[in-house]
Amino acid sequence: MAEGDFLEMATTTLGITIVPRHVALIMDGNGRWAAARGLPRFEGHRRGVEALRRAVRAAIELRISYLTVYSFSAENWSRPREEVQSLLGLLHRFIRNDLSELHDNNVRVRVIGAREDLAPEILALLKEAEQVTAANTGLTLVVAFNYGARQEIAAAARALAEMVAEGRLAPHEIDADAISARLDTADIPDPDLIIRTSGEQRLSNFLLWQAAYAEFVFLPILWPDFDQAALVSALEEYAHRERRFGRVESPRSAKTAS
Ligand code: IPE
Ligand code: IPE
Ligand code: MG
Repeated sequence: MAEGDFLEMATTTLGITIVPRHVALIMDGNGRWAAARGLPRFEGHRRGVEALRRAVRAAIELRISYLTVYSFSAENWSRPREEVQSLLGLLHRFIRNDLSELHDNNVRVRVIGAREDLAPEILALLKEAEQVTAANTGLTLVVAFNYGARQEIAAAARALAEMVAEGRLAPHEIDADAISARLDTADIPDPDLIIRTSGEQRLSNFLLWQAAYAEFVFLPILWPDFDQAALVSALEEYAHRERRFGRVESPRSAKTAS
C-alpha cells in the first residue's frame, strides 16, 4: 500500500482535526425507528432518506472525499415484496428529486453492486445519476445498491478465471491488487472508517475485501435519527484511533514525528 493511500486531511471544520478520506455508512435501523413509534416500516425508510440527505450535506461540509452508503443489499431482496417495492420507490424518488441538487453541489455519484437482473428503469436511473455527475470534482457519493461483497469478490474471481482460461493471464499473476482492480470499487480508495447505526455490530456482506484496515464505529442511534452531530462524534472517535497497518507505529504518528 502506498503512503498516499492513508493520507488524511487536516482541517479545523467543526473542530475535527483528522478527517478520513473515505467514510462508509451502514444505514441500519429504519424498521425499528418506525416500530418504536407504531408506524409502518415504510415510514422509517422514508425518514431514512432524509437522514441520508443530512449525511451527504455533512460530508460535504466536513470535506470528506468519498462517502459510501449501503442502500440495499443483495440479501434485502428476501424481504416482503411490498417492502422491497417501497425501497425501490424511494431510491427512484431520491435520484429523481435530489440529482440536480447533488450535481449543483459538485457531487459525483457512483453506484456499486450487481447490475445484472435489475429492472431496466432502475438501471437507466443509476446510469443517469453517474453520467450526469461524472465530471464533478467534489464529494464522491458511492451508492451501494443490490450490493453484496461476497458476490462482488466472486465476480472478480470469475473475471480472472476467464482471463486465465483465455491465456491472457498466468495464475501466478493473481495477487491482491489484481483482485482489487476487478471489484466495483477498483478506482475508489478503501474506506478509512465504517459507521453502522442501530447498535448492530456486523458488516452484513458490506465491503468485506475493502474493509481490511478500516476502523469501525458502531452508533446506538437508529438511522432516521442520524445527523451531522452523529457523524462528527464518529469522526472524533476515529481521530483517536491508532492505525498501524501491521506496522509497529501508525503512519500518522510517524508523519507527525518527522
Ligand atoms: C435499514 O433499515 C434499511 C435497509 C436495510 C434497506 P432496516 O430496514 O434494516 O431497519 P431494521 O434493522 O429492521 O430496524
Ligand atoms: C444491512 O442491513 C443492509 C443495509 C443497511 C442496506 P440489514 O438490516 O439488511 O442487515 P442484517 O440483516 O441486520 O444483517
Ligand atoms: Mg436492519
